[in-house]
Amino acid sequence: MHGHILEMKGITKEFPGVKALDNVNFRVKKGEIHALVGENGAGKSTLMKVLSGVYPTGTFDGDIIIDGKKRDFQNIKDSEECGISIIYQELALVHQMSVGENIFLNHEPTKLKGVIDDDKLYYKTHKLLHKLKLNINPRMKVNSFGVGVQQLIEIAKALSKKTEILILDEPTAALTESEVEILFRILNNLKDHGVTSIIITHKLNEVFEISDTVTVLRDGKTIGTYDIEELDEDKIISRMVGRELIDLFPRVVHTPGKVIMEVKNFSVYDPDVPDRKLVDNVSLEIKEGEILGISGLMGAGRTELVMGIFGGFKGKVEGQIFIDGKEVKINTPMDAIKNKLALVTEDRKGNGLVLDQSILVNTTLASLDKVTNGITLNENEEIKWTDKFVKDLRTKTPSIEQKVKNLSGGNQQKVVLAKWLITEPKILFLDEPTRGIDVGAKYEIYSIMNELVDQGVAVVMISSELPEIMGMSDRILVMGEGKLRGEVHYTRATQEKIMHFATGGN
Ligand SMILES: Nc1ncnc2c1ncn2[C@@H]1O[C@H](COP(=O)(O)OP(=O)(O)OP(=O)(O)O)[C@@H](O)[C@H]1O
Ligand SMILES: [Mg+2]
Repeated sequence: MHGHILEMKGITKEFPGVKALDNVNFRVKKGEIHALVGENGAGKSTLMKVLSGVYPTGTFDGDIIIDGKKRDFQNIKDSEECGISIIYQELALVHQMSVGENIFLNHEPTKLKGVIDDDKLYYKTHKLLHKLKLNINPRMKVNSFGVGVQQLIEIAKALSKKTEILILDEPTAALTESEVEILFRILNNLKDHGVTSIIITHKLNEVFEISDTVTVLRDGKTIGTYDIEELDEDKIISRMVGRELIDLFPRVVHTPGKVIMEVKNFSVYDPDVPDRKLVDNVSLEIKEGEILGISGLMGAGRTELVMGIFGGFKGKVEGQIFIDGKEVKINTPMDAIKNKLALVTEDRKGNGLVLDQSILVNTTLASLDKVTNGITLNENEEIKWTDKFVKDLRTKTPSIEQKVKNLSGGNQQKVVLAKWLITEPKILFLDEPTRGIDVGAKYEIYSIMNELVDQGVAVVMISSELPEIMGMSDRILVMGEGKLRGEVHYTRATQEKIMHFATGGN
């Protein structure tokens, strides 16, 4: 057994037209934190779904051996009984139920005659949350919390069961830095108690921060398993993408043109709390042919600023917007699209993908004739454009007819991006455009940004990743507490300077 709590041997899993896993071998030692990395569509989530019984025995080839015994899971319950808990890439909490009800769903503490023991349920929830240092009311509905807290609730749920192997599929994609810290502290704490964790992430700095061992998948195959000490970022990247990436950021010197948008004294009011400003009197200019970065801490008002400009806060905004010198009224996203604006939102689930429809349908969704002043795309054009973006963004799919729900998480994100690129906007707002996207595809997205800028498009990018903001922007605006706190040209930008503005310095 050599201390391996888990061995997956020769796992092959096929979907129509896709060999998602091709003879994968994966071994995990007891009590370690094992990172599973690879490009979008490499097969990471599929491998973990095989392990957790989402795909039952018989729907794949190969063996799963846990604690030295071969296991045949018919369903998720079987794997749970074996001590496996999985937290999916897309959170799976029931929004209308309380925190406690979610955590103990299907294994509620009961009184005699099987009646749910509410007091016990909330008491146990309280204790669990306390352990996680999560100061929230267990009786509140899950949908009153942000994604970050929901993620931690999922973890509490996993810990409410007997967990030997905890699987986290991109747990940090939507977490703030302090939430990531809490999560990592919990994982290290679990490790001290002998719990094994498998974590999938695209953030390589996290791989180095948290993991003991790393397995790289590429195109459904195992490239190798390494001790973290054997690796550095370049080594992981070249194993993931199968080639050397010389530069993470294709920096091009742009020559910005005239101002195309001017935003004056712009405020956004909190729809739920009267008189509270999410964006506070912001004025800014956007120039043709530039990449404008917007930096700041989570909650600084960056998303609300671009959503507000885009017509997402009807009746809750104040201020003026000028496009090409003329004042425009943008009351709805439709008005924004008519004015040749596009917005790729940060929220993957609420991004308007129709999961049951094809890549083709989804890509062409926002460019319907209604919104492009009667210039209709014909079907051939639609196919041509969709093909182009599938190729440019290296979306992994057997065809453009594939349903979006069958794509891996990162590849779904690429469809969202394509959907907006096809509208040929004059100003493209990107809110965390590379979240959940692998390093190779990030490079493709940056290259597309540069191409658009060459054509005169203005790109406004919100990003929480400082290297990305500094690596790609021409100018960087920094927000804090709803206000514009500072501006730096990229040649003078340092992490320290940006953080200084973000945290309230001048
Ligand atoms: N239910 C399904 N039907 C058809 N194809 C699928 C299905 N689930 C996954 N695939 C395909 O299998 C491959 C592996 O997908 P998987 O979700 O495991 O990738 P991943 O490594 O988790 O990627 P990401 O980093 O984007 O989340 C992809 O090509 C994906 O499109
Ligand atoms: Mg995945």
